[in-house]
Amino acid sequence: MTVEQPRIRPEVAPDIDAIARVHDRAFGGPEEAAIVERLRAGDAWLPGLSLVAELDGRVVGHVVVSRAALVPPGGEAGREIAILALGPIGVLPEFQGRGVGTALMRAAIAAARRRSEPVVVLLGHPGFYRGLGFVRARSIGIEPQVDTWPDEAWLALDLRSPGSASPPVAGRVRYTDAFSLH
Ligand SMILES: CC(C)(COP(=O)(O)OP(=O)(O)OC[C@H]1O[C@@H](n2cnc3c(N)ncnc32)[C@H](O)[C@@H]1OP(=O)(O)O)[C@@H](O)C(=O)NCCC(=O)NCCS
Repeated sequence: MTVEQPRIRPEVAPDIDAIARVHDRAFGGPEEAAIVERLRAGDAWLPGLSLVAELDGRVVGHVVVSRAALVPPGGEAGREIAILALGPIGVLPEFQGRGVGTALMRAAIAAARRRSEPVVVLLGHPGFYRGLGFVRARSIGIEPQVDTWPDEAWLALDLRSPGSASPPVAGRVRYTDAFSLH
């Protein structure tokens, strides 16, 4: 059986309600859709890095990559490094398990690599992100904002080109207020 490939594209205004429905249904509650709405209204939003997956013209999945900060060890003000945070990502339950989430992730990573931030971080199910190049973030010196986030779920992907001369980045991630982690 041929499985239809989703079309991945940046969100446009008419997608907004469908995106909220994707997250409400994927996560079984309103919190992730609310995060996306707060992100969209705030400074961390990166137009073009909110991607939808369409099948037969219907939005069946969504992922967003937004700005975050890495506070270096010592934490002096003004030395923060701009990085990226990935999530939420959701796929309508009836379309899960057929590659839509992976297609969204590959497109999000490709878009993130076209920018200048050195790393993208996320908290998620390791089984889903394993094949996409993510490693345990603490293993490369990137601490989560919330100390209790488990090692196996706190993940990072180095976005710099192989052989890049830029020094490794390390520190503690600070998410935008849209995630309500404070
Ligand atoms: C997680 C999610 C976005 C994945 O989307 P999807 O379209 O189902 O993913 P894919 O079909 O591309 O699956 C890719 C692989 O990840 C695996 N996978 C998917 N969800 C997983 C999970 N929650 N835990 C572990 N592995 C998972 C699949 O089994 C598949 O592995 P395979 O290729 O070896 O079969 C989707 O299942 C979803 O919306 N879940 C509910 C919301 C959620 O948990 N979001 C992410 C939070 S980290």
